[in-house]
Amino acid sequence: MIRFPRGYKIVLAIVIIWCVVLIIVQAQTPSSTLTIDLSKPGHAISAMLYNGMLLEEIGHGIDGGFYAQLIRNGSFEDDNTLDAWSLVKAGYSNGVISGFSTIYMTTKTGQRGGETGQLNSNQRHCLKLEISAVNVGSVGIANSGYWGIRLDNNTTYKVSFFAKKDPDFKGTLTVKLESNSGTVYAASAPFNPTTNWQKFTCDLTTSNILSVTGDNRFVIYGSSIGTLYFDMVSLMPPTYKNRPNGLRLDMAEMQAALQPKLIRFPGGCDAEHSSIDLGWNWKKAIGPIEQRPGEMSQRWGYRNSQQFGLDDLFQMCEDWGAEPIYCTTMSMSEGFGAAPMDQLHPFVQDVLDLIEYANGDARTTRWGKQRAVNGHSAPYNLKYIEVGNENGFQEGYHERYAVFYDAIKQAYPNMNVIINDTLNGQKADMIDEHIYGTQSELFQFSTRYDNYDRKGPEITIGELSDKESETEVGDLKCAIGEAVFFTGCERNSDIVISTAYGTLSGNLNAISWYPNLYYNNSVSCFAIPSYYMIKMFVENTGDVVLPYVLNGPLYVAPSMINSNEGVIIKVVNPTGHTLNTAIKLKGAKKNINKNGTAITLTSRSDTDENSIDYPTKVVPSTSKFTAGNSFNYSFPANSVTVLRLGY
Ligand code: AHR
Repeated sequence: MIRFPRGYKIVLAIVIIWCVVLIIVQAQTPSSTLTIDLSKPGHAISAMLYNGMLLEEIGHGIDGGFYAQLIRNGSFEDDNTLDAWSLVKAGYSNGVISGFSTIYMTTKTGQRGGETGQLNSNQRHCLKLEISAVNVGSVGIANSGYWGIRLDNNTTYKVSFFAKKDPDFKGTLTVKLESNSGTVYAASAPFNPTTNWQKFTCDLTTSNILSVTGDNRFVIYGSSIGTLYFDMVSLMPPTYKNRPNGLRLDMAEMQAALQPKLIRFPGGCDAEHSSIDLGWNWKKAIGPIEQRPGEMSQRWGYRNSQQFGLDDLFQMCEDWGAEPIYCTTMSMSEGFGAAPMDQLHPFVQDVLDLIEYANGDARTTRWGKQRAVNGHSAPYNLKYIEVGNENGFQEGYHERYAVFYDAIKQAYPNMNVIINDTLNGQKADMIDEHIYGTQSELFQFSTRYDNYDRKGPEITIGELSDKESETEVGDLKCAIGEAVFFTGCERNSDIVISTAYGTLSGNLNAISWYPNLYYNNSVSCFAIPSYYMIKMFVENTGDVVLPYVLNGPLYVAPSMINSNEGVIIKVVNPTGHTLNTAIKLKGAKKNINKNGTAITLTSRSDTDENSIDYPTKVVPSTSKFTAGNSFNYSFPANSVTVLRLGY
């Protein structure tokens, strides 16, 4: 048996207490120091530094994303004519649906003539319903929406569709909103179709919906046997700012909270096409929706219905209080070559017409008049045109860019023209840079502008995200990478005037790009941690930068609020441990108030992310802390913190 000397318990207790004290003292000893000089405020910070946005269709960012439309493939022009449509029948009723294509008449000389049968020459398909029996109930065509249709109780939905019949149909049409198992929540009065195409509209107000789900369908029932044709079917829920062809409420409100000030559209890649007849074409995205054929993105191969059209995009900017950046096609598309130099004219004329449509006088200019006819007599006041998207990868960009620049400036000297590559001898008002990279690459990018040529044009970061892989949803680690990059943008915000996340949203049922700032299904949406980080930066931008000296593995962006009302210190701790930091504010004219506010975005692991089921797993929290001219602050592991201090 071991014998311990007398008094060993006392010695042991002293050793343990000593160790605990040592650990506590060590934990409190600052491992980093940050000194901020309030007496030497630097340059002003661009008021739209964090308020940019790219809106493009990729991954159903618009159709099935921001656009509130609930009917998918309402024009029957998707790859598969009957996508999202099915036959509904009860009892001994029967029928068949088919996609009915354009039938072309051929003239005597063999030229393609007018089309027969379709709603108009821009619609190549409609849906044909042949009802063969209605012994019990009715037969109808059902749309399942963008992988579900969200219906809310006691809510009014606006319906419109075009229909015609063959003479054999003697009955009426009824529209219903119902569950997938047939419980009816709203039904229209009967409509009487004729043998000519006719537009039908109604408002449907739901009742008896006990819980909000996406397990619903939109159905148009026919009451008798016979043949019917349908096209351009639309179901609109209440929208953001009650726009008739507007934005989905939940997503638009989340985006509004980011206070967007600069919105770039239609792409991204959707602006890239090598022929004027391919891809996004604004002239086919204005006027009556039933006249819009939609487009296929050349580079990504997805369809954009263009039902949320050019005027809706400009209106969206107005509603959010943002400036539009129109990114024009300029004859080049990565992987698809470029139109020859001597065939640039249609592309150049197209953007000149676009500017006239956006800004031209509603009485005296051709396209300004057209804008007024389309419902917006006041100009949109477009100030920014970007010439192409990411075309620096291709040879021949700069010589083509020069043609656009000269033509735009000659007609509109005040228009800001944006180049999407280095100047390479060209003139530009702004350069659009796209920053995609892993977290460690974004750390490196954060110093990119420290030694940038101050004589050159300002930088707008048109697309930015921490892209860890091709399938990364976007976790806390991504938000930290982007926040680190942002600290470099703020430090250099005399030249970097805006940033925009790329891309904005993806429908969870059809994603083609990661990460997205938002993900949605038919019922709800969530934002990734980057959204909350951007919101923290937007709400705490500050007015002028402050010089600082930092020792430690943190990234910081201190700024002052004008008229010395206070100081904002944004701090990113990308390490896996808490960093206790001694912060000193020197040169303050008055004593800093002891009551500080901290807003912190962190989580147990940097791989934590939000999801449809846990949409707020990683969100910021606000707390109070003891501030002053000198104070210690412990920045949690893997965190983004905003400290607000006042006098
Ligand atoms: O944001 C997705 C795509 O990424 C954009 O369309 C393109 O500009 C970039 O390559």
